[in-house]
Amino acid sequence: MWPDRRLLEKLDIVHPIIQAPMAGASTPELVAAVSNAGGLGSLGAAMMQPEAIRGAIREIRRLTQRPFAVNLFNYPLPAPEAEKVARMKQRMAGYLRALGADPAKLPAMPPMPDMAKQMAVILEEAPPVFSFTFGLPERGYVAALRGKKVFVIGTATTVAEAKALVDLGVDAVTAQGSEAGGHRGTFAAPVEDSLIGTLALVPMVADAIALPVIAAGGIMDGRGIAAVFMLGAAGAALGTAFLTCPENSIVHPIYRETLLSGRAAPTVVTRAYTGREARFIKNRFVADMAAAAAEIPSYPHQIPLTAPLRALGGETKNPEILPMLAGQAYPLCRALPAGELVQTLVREAGDLFAGLRGPGLGANDVDAVSP
Ligand SMILES: Cc1cc2nc3c(=O)[nH]c(=O)nc-3n(C[C@H](O)[C@H](O)[C@H](O)COP(=O)(O)O)c2cc1C
Repeated sequence: MWPDRRLLEKLDIVHPIIQAPMAGASTPELVAAVSNAGGLGSLGAAMMQPEAIRGAIREIRRLTQRPFAVNLFNYPLPAPEAEKVARMKQRMAGYLRALGADPAKLPAMPPMPDMAKQMAVILEEAPPVFSFTFGLPERGYVAALRGKKVFVIGTATTVAEAKALVDLGVDAVTAQGSEAGGHRGTFAAPVEDSLIGTLALVPMVADAIALPVIAAGGIMDGRGIAAVFMLGAAGAALGTAFLTCPENSIVHPIYRETLLSGRAAPTVVTRAYTGREARFIKNRFVADMAAAAAEIPSYPHQIPLTAPLRALGGETKNPEILPMLAGQAYPLCRALPAGELVQTLVREAGDLFAGLRGPGLGANDVDAVSP
């Protein structure tokens, strides 16, 4: 039924439906459930220490024989920004005190994982698929991965980025539209110049490169999947839609409840929590930080500075401070088990494709729409 079968053949999967990588929001159980249902599960491993990544890969292998992906962030480390960090630390302490918390009593964060050490584990474990975002890893990594028969997927938010990924030697490109939840993958131009919606980005990228294009951003059901295939995609990646699956047990219950609440608070692209632009559900903290945007240190310096706030938000079940990454279409979230969600998506997209292959417009229909 799939109009483009390239990914099915190259990856040995049954459905070109990818559970998009989500750091801090994808468990081995979720990844394996999606892969066992014929899609491609992805472990968002960017925030995991190297040995935790190894453990998770082995756990996924225990739970499924099917292909799966592991994903990392690739970013150049910024200068230390000591003064900015010190000022933000003070600001955050004041913010926490205003919420009635003692900053000294809130847990600090372990050091950020080292990408070189993460990559060493990836190369040793050689998962079937490796995907990355935030830029171009060293060419040597891509060559080494391909040498181990790992299928490599890079993330682009513009046509120029997609072409740079092709030059690097990846096997497929994820075109991440601006609707997407999570961090922007942008690396070649300022984010504000790279916020292209999925409907516009996918056909432009599909025209510009010969590799399979995976569409991401705002896809929540069979309608979105069928639509991106019509735009030239060879696969559909859904992140937010998988946040509410019960296998995703690390998603905080308040976050899950907010996604499923039907309240439809707006989402916004902000640097407030991490120092890098990412789409979150707008809450009180995001709104409060808007005035201080210029004072926010670069990624990843801001992450440990907001860690106590994340801890407090979780402890006190407060969605006004808890970070909740989500795509624009999050009100369409369903609370289905992951395997059932994949089957539902396949059925919904299949019904739409079957309708397209139907009798088509008859002469009377054409008359009816003619002026
Ligand atoms: C909670 C969350 C975490 C994410 N973490 C990552 C990540 O670690 N790596 C990555 O490449 N993309 C990450 N993303 C982006 C997704 O892979 C994908 O591009 C996005 O979810 C697609 O848009 P949608 O959320 O509207 O489906 C994340 C998205 C969300 C919602």
